[in-house]
Amino acid sequence: MSSSVYSRHRAAFAQALASALGVPAADIEPQVKPADPAHGDLSFATFPLAKAQKKAPPAIAAGLAQTLSVPGLEIKAVGPYVNARFALMPFTAEVLDAARSAGLAYGGDADAGRGKTVTVDYSSPNIAKPIAFHHIRTTFLGHCIANIYRALGWRVEGINYLGDWGKQFGLVAVGFQEYGDPARIDDMGHLVEVYVKANTRAEKEPEFDAKARDFFRRMEAGDAEALKVWNQFRETSIRGFKTIYARMGIEFEHIEGESRYQGKMDAVIEQIAKKPGVKESQGALIVDLPYAENEPPILLKKNDGTTLYATRDLAAAEDRYERFHYDKALYVVAQDQALHFRQVFRTLSAMGQPWADRCVHVAFGRIHGMSTRKGLVVQLNDVLDEAKERASVKVKENQEAGRLQSNDPDLLAEQIGLGAIAFGDLKHKRASDYTFDWDEVLSFEGHTGPYLQYAHARVVNVLRKGGGVPASYDASLLTLPEEQALVREIMRLPEVVKDAAEQYEPSLVARLLLDVAAALSRYYTLGNQERDKRILVENDDALRFARLALTDAARVTLAAGLTLLGIPTPENM
Ligand code: ARG
Repeated sequence: MSSSVYSRHRAAFAQALASALGVPAADIEPQVKPADPAHGDLSFATFPLAKAQKKAPPAIAAGLAQTLSVPGLEIKAVGPYVNARFALMPFTAEVLDAARSAGLAYGGDADAGRGKTVTVDYSSPNIAKPIAFHHIRTTFLGHCIANIYRALGWRVEGINYLGDWGKQFGLVAVGFQEYGDPARIDDMGHLVEVYVKANTRAEKEPEFDAKARDFFRRMEAGDAEALKVWNQFRETSIRGFKTIYARMGIEFEHIEGESRYQGKMDAVIEQIAKKPGVKESQGALIVDLPYAENEPPILLKKNDGTTLYATRDLAAAEDRYERFHYDKALYVVAQDQALHFRQVFRTLSAMGQPWADRCVHVAFGRIHGMSTRKGLVVQLNDVLDEAKERASVKVKENQEAGRLQSNDPDLLAEQIGLGAIAFGDLKHKRASDYTFDWDEVLSFEGHTGPYLQYAHARVVNVLRKGGGVPASYDASLLTLPEEQALVREIMRLPEVVKDAAEQYEPSLVARLLLDVAAALSRYYTLGNQERDKRILVENDDALRFARLALTDAARVTLAAGLTLLGIPTPENM
């Protein structure tokens, strides 16, 4: 079933607005849930109409609200907005059943993307170099975006495009002779140490730098000896990365890298070189397309004949199109590389690639202040280790205080640690920068992963105590405002997932989960105050069954949402 209660009504609301305004329905996109819940579930802003209608937005909104009528929606104007609120009661059973029957697939829609393919370029760390903040964000964001598209029925080709070519291998290779421990050639951390030392030395000592360059030149020239060493470093790094990805539950469809395009560069360059706007400048090849003002031309080939990051990305885009015929190609990469991607995409369209506009740079902001006890240079593994360590202190504390139970505290600490870091990242709008704080992300209260994991485990526990979920129940008994509020949040997941896919914005899913948990918590609080409002109400089987079904739908929503975010959902906490 591909149309949820929410999407049907959103479409009907858009249709009603469109016919009142005499425009195509596709032009109208009512926003899901305005900031103030008192205003409704859907909202349409009239500002863009003011000019054409020569009327003030509030007057337009008032006029529209009066003429619109959509079954199941209460429509009213609030200032410049036309807001709609679901008359939810008749849909309660449908909402709960949709969630419960879908289980972990709730929020998805296998039909939405049927037959469509998206490539997601994410994580893409540089081999033998320290990992940086942006590798952490791209890994979490990319994983989640891939999950979301998969849930929406797209064929997803997740690509880990390793930075596995370049001078850094020269640095590691010549550095290894001096600082390396041959017994530790299989240790990724050791290679990074060697790189850091060699890099510092090369900055001070031109002869050392020249040696490193020479090594890379030998690699580019196909020198078997140099390539053998390179391959050994590469294998070590990939093995190291794989343990991290396994820890995070990430599986890439493809782990490849920039080195894939060695030997294919000449063909690409030849293809571009024929286009107007491409010229030689001091022995280097540059593309000078009609760019926006102040944008530098793109450099394809240096005067020593070596190719560049941009050239390899052009080749990679073509190669991926040939392999996957993508409908969308997403590059989940830091905002810092915006110019690079603008140039690459423009060059692709100048090359006449009809699919150039399917490429999207999914840019994100920075993390400030993320450091581990080991220091500021962060490896993702170090971050996860420290998160686990800190989580395990909390698990122990809570266990001793009787607030938490677990038969596998070590696994739980790992899951909480991962949940903390992942949610701490994904709850932020991807374009914003944020400041990382260990205590904040690991807190069991507030807008955190552990808080949501705990909310989920708690709901599992209530269901367990309630003796599981009844085969049938009467949804019309769920009349408390707190119950209807929870139904509303549960209902939103499929719509939010769709919006998150369109906007490449996992934070929308993250925020919804916080809303679900908050609605659940208000529901519990109610029951703590008045016995007959407890979920496990005594002496009224019918009511208890209905409440259990609602609780179960909330559990499903949390579990499905957290799973989309790549966050584990322990059942015992
Ligand atoms: N390896 C690059 C870096 O660490 C990111 C690669 C992103 N993907 C791409 N197709 N350029 O900055």
